[in-house]
Amino acid sequence: MSEMGRRQFLAGSGAALVPGIGLAVPAGAQGSRTGAVATPDTLSAEVGMAVLRRGGNAVDAAIAIALALAVTYPEAGNIGGGGFMTGLVRGRPWFLDYRESAPRAATETMYQAADGSVMDGWSLVGNLAAGVPGTVRGLWDAHRRFGTRPWGELVEPAIALARDGFDPPAQMVRIRDDAQRDLGGANRLGGRFNAMAAGQVFRQPELADTLTRIARQGPDGFYAGETADLIVAQMARGMPRGIITAADLAAYRARWRRPIEGRWRGLGVITAPPPSSGGIALMQLLTMKALRDDLFAGVPHNSSRYIHLMAELCKRVFADRAQYLGDPDYWQVPVARLLDRAYLARRAGGIDPLRPSPTPSIRPGLERPQTTHFSVVDGAGNAVSNTYTINGWYGSGVVVEGAGFLLNNEMDDFSSAPGVPNQFGVVGGAANAIAPGKRPLSSMTPTILTRDGAPWLVLGSPGGSRIITTVFQVIANVVDHQMDLASAVAAQRFHHQLLPEDTIFTEPFGSGADPRVEAELTAMGYRLQMQDYVGDVAAIGRDVSGSPIVAPDPRARGAGRIATVDAR
Ligand code: DON
Repeated sequence: MSEMGRRQFLAGSGAALVPGIGLAVPAGAQGSRTGAVATPDTLSAEVGMAVLRRGGNAVDAAIAIALALAVTYPEAGNIGGGGFMTGLVRGRPWFLDYRESAPRAATETMYQAADGSVMDGWSLVGNLAAGVPGTVRGLWDAHRRFGTRPWGELVEPAIALARDGFDPPAQMVRIRDDAQRDLGGANRLGGRFNAMAAGQVFRQPELADTLTRIARQGPDGFYAGETADLIVAQMARGMPRGIITAADLAAYRARWRRPIEGRWRGLGVITAPPPSSGGIALMQLLTMKALRDDLFAGVPHNSSRYIHLMAELCKRVFADRAQYLGDPDYWQVPVARLLDRAYLARRAGGIDPLRPSPTPSIRPGLERPQTTHFSVVDGAGNAVSNTYTINGWYGSGVVVEGAGFLLNNEMDDFSSAPGVPNQFGVVGGAANAIAPGKRPLSSMTPTILTRDGAPWLVLGSPGGSRIITTVFQVIANVVDHQMDLASAVAAQRFHHQLLPEDTIFTEPFGSGADPRVEAELTAMGYRLQMQDYVGDVAAIGRDVSGSPIVAPDPRARGAGRIATVDAR
């Protein structure tokens, strides 16, 4: 970490410090007149900043960013998917679940052949992979409750970007090429996305029309009328046929839920409840890490011992995830018992500091996994942490003809059959079985850490099951390792999820890395599986004066902006 960076995130000598945290917000910082956005691309960051500058609050900016990303970040930004929004407005935490739901005709065995084997790709590619989209309803509901600017004004920048076009960044074109391959060639993604090329202005006129309907009619511009007709007509094209009906669209509702709230090392944690597994998993990881401070004492960041200990925590958490977590409207999730300190102390008690616990010994502990994230804070101390997704890059590859947007492949987040891993390699059973109207279990973890009630660190990430471990590592880096935000976000990340057995997914060890780490982990019995990058964090922190600081993740094309705006 650079000295400059360390200073940026460290409290001055006179500031009150929470024990073990090298970062403090002085009293009175809450009235700061600055807002900030951390988004996955520059165009959406500019859109968010314009809303804040015009006096919009964090929720207004979040809505405009989400709609802009549906245009400028088609691989994950969406109106054809769903997501979660964690917020803090006027000091009160809230959570909005606008996750996709299974169509009414969905069945527990819809992806299985007669012999019970899972049909390769059906939950991932094409019409049948899509859940009923939740994004437009979610953004509308957030606006109804918290918005201060007119809805049409928040949709307008997205319409202009779709109509007038923009230069597609190289990374976006590269991901399109990868997705074309994965989705089975040129018959997917529709003519427009297939034709997108670097150096050529990318215009999306059908999407501009769809967004115009949404601007004028609100959710009826998506869930009824022309857009709904186009979605239903799309279901009949190609094989296998899709099953989303007009009734499914008309019935879709977003849900206000109580966020998972906890305290950790003197900070407030506000994060995602079921149907996300993320918040419970994050609280379990943070709590167990603190309960085992004895094991972590003196262990250097990202050393083999450190990675092993973190993997041991992850193992236990992912075993619980597979067994107990699912849509709470369909499955009783034992939230309190999973977060109980005594339970977590027992669970973390068996960790051997030197050797991995044998995978079969880690059972669920109670008796008996493309996505994008952005964070916003406004000058009044309100914050929004939003992760939304169409699941895989470019979702199911299905572009709704005439409407110009991509449908998700979120159905793959259900367990297609007990114990069969999804695309992120995570498994599940009855808790996450498919049922009509049910939401698939998610790992999305939009999180807000507060200090003295004010937003202190607003963050989240894409990455399927890696989201949980990514958010956990960034928080641990900032709080336990006193890294400045940029270093905490940039640091090498790794991931373990119980299965595949003893496998640690890791980013390449950088040039400064200790060469012994890989050898030591291998000697302990771990298999290291390299992966280009783990997560893409969009985080906003606070410097010692209480002003926001942003740290775009160097892994992708994230952007951060800070502006002085009038407090509202
Ligand atoms: O909800 C989930 O957990 C997944 N559908 C998220 C997908 C994702 O993060 C893909 N991003 N790289």
